[in-house]
Amino acid sequence: MEDLREKYLSLISGATDEASLENLRVQAVGKKGEISLRMRSLGKMTPEERQEAGPALNALKDEVNSALVARKSSLSDAALEERLKGEWLDVTLPARLARQGSIHPISQVWGEVTEIFADMGFSVAEGPQIESDWYNFDALNIPGHHPARAEMDTFYTYRDQDDDRPPHVLRTHTSPVQIRSMEKIGAPLRIICPGRVYRADYDQTHTPMFHQVEGLAVDTDVSMANLKWCLEEFVKAFFEVDNVELRFRASHFPFTEPSAEVDIRCNWSGGQLKIGEGDDWMEILGSGMVHPKVLHAGGIDPTVYQGFAFGLGIDRIAMLKYGIPDLRAFFDSDLRWLRHYGFNALDKPGLVSGLSR
Ligand code: DAH
Repeated sequence: MEDLREKYLSLISGATDEASLENLRVQAVGKKGEISLRMRSLGKMTPEERQEAGPALNALKDEVNSALVARKSSLSDAALEERLKGEWLDVTLPARLARQGSIHPISQVWGEVTEIFADMGFSVAEGPQIESDWYNFDALNIPGHHPARAEMDTFYTYRDQDDDRPPHVLRTHTSPVQIRSMEKIGAPLRIICPGRVYRADYDQTHTPMFHQVEGLAVDTDVSMANLKWCLEEFVKAFFEVDNVELRFRASHFPFTEPSAEVDIRCNWSGGQLKIGEGDDWMEILGSGMVHPKVLHAGGIDPTVYQGFAFGLGIDRIAMLKYGIPDLRAFFDSDLRWLRHYGFNALDKPGLVSGLSR
């Protein structure tokens, strides 16, 4: 019995895989295994012999069985270990930077502008792109006969001939949101409205659909100086430089009095567009003190409140900031252009983290 014990315990500890271990099990304690046969022979023994051999054989069988189990588990641990070594993955590797998509420069600039004005206490307002002519024109002090209506190259919606209601228009500017916001919020208020606007116009700096941000601040103590400060702060923050040369030009809009247009110094030479240098000026916004009639149309008492307003071309300032010479490329959906001018989708513009990277 001692021989059997030594033989199997050493064979088991020497087994190198689960298949040979299974063979050993059959050979030792299987139905016809060496130890099982011994146990079967107990019947032929005298009761005295059996009393001694029985427990000893049982103990041997138990010992062999537990050696089998122990070896099996250490073999499978080793096999697992081996497999894991092969499947090891270095999770510290940086993610692959190949980007599938990117943020369009318009969306990027939209986000940057919103971030800057939010910091000055402006909240974001919205209005419909298909607008009634009252909100788009009349409420903004542009009556039916006013030349501004013709100048705007408006897209009108279709009405049946016997329908004498005025047609809706694709809004020609974001200014109607001024009226809608005054109606909804009342005074005081401070809002910006970024959005799409439409005009029948097409060249290097004009497309039939483009983007504006409207700004409106109404309170009891608002002046042109506040407007000028706000716009200068904005331009510095947006272009991420301390000095950008601005030109405030006296102008005329029906909805502001007085009115000013703002141009920015730039250079177009060599098919490149650069800000802050050169002899060219690019108009980026219209602005002024809100006309009393406009406040009145928005339900606000012009004898108590004043306001300043501005309308800024998002596409224009995107062209200037990112050196994009042709506006039409924004809307071509050319993947090569988007890959070149697009922004990382994971970099959200922020005043603390940086507007653009
Ligand atoms: N709505 C004007 C346009 O589209 C821009 C504008 C000028 C907006 C003066 C304003 C403003 O709010 O005060 O040309």
